[in-house]
Amino acid sequence: MADPKRVAVLISGRGSNLRALVEQADGYRVALVASNKPQAAGLDWPRSRGLPTWTWDSKGQSREVFDEALDQVLEDHGIGTIALAGYMRLLSPGFIEKWRGRIVNIHPSLLPAYRGLDTHARVLAAGETITGCTVHVVSEELDAGRILASSQVPVEAGDTPQMLEARVLAAEHLLYPKALARFIMAQAKRSG
Ligand code: GRF
Repeated sequence: MADPKRVAVLISGRGSNLRALVEQADGYRVALVASNKPQAAGLDWPRSRGLPTWTWDSKGQSREVFDEALDQVLEDHGIGTIALAGYMRLLSPGFIEKWRGRIVNIHPSLLPAYRGLDTHARVLAAGETITGCTVHVVSEELDAGRILASSQVPVEAGDTPQMLEARVLAAEHLLYPKALARFIMAQAKRSG
């Protein structure tokens, strides 16, 4: 079994969580950044740091074909753990099966509440006073795998979705590296 401490971070967008995962890495190493969007802004920073990156435009590709290529590059880099960080493409069932228990994700709500997209707007529309973010293991069901850690964030009067997003994102950057480190330590103990 590949070393759980060798992490691939999968992104589709700005990559602020990727950066937090690299900068606060403790007991693991980001050995690959992969993206299904060749133009993702979040690729600039790892490239400037000389981190290995891989991209292939997933547009027009079947889930299976794209995920097979992704799987191959993960194997080539000896990846043991996958961290999704704003990866906006559903993984194929075959890929999830193969990597079961080794893929984690961060979601900007207190799961199981507000799975899916537009979480902050929905949280505001519902009049919530507390929201947050959750790190969980990825399963076939969207945003529904085993919860590893979560962090609460207050909703403040007059918040717009953008204001709330910024506050939750700051909490994500603290939570994700710690939760990933703890998860990997447990995985490493189990495999070694
Ligand atoms: C974060 O809010 C994360 O919770 C969600 O997508 C967003 C990614 O942001 N899954 P970034 O690309 O890490 O800045």
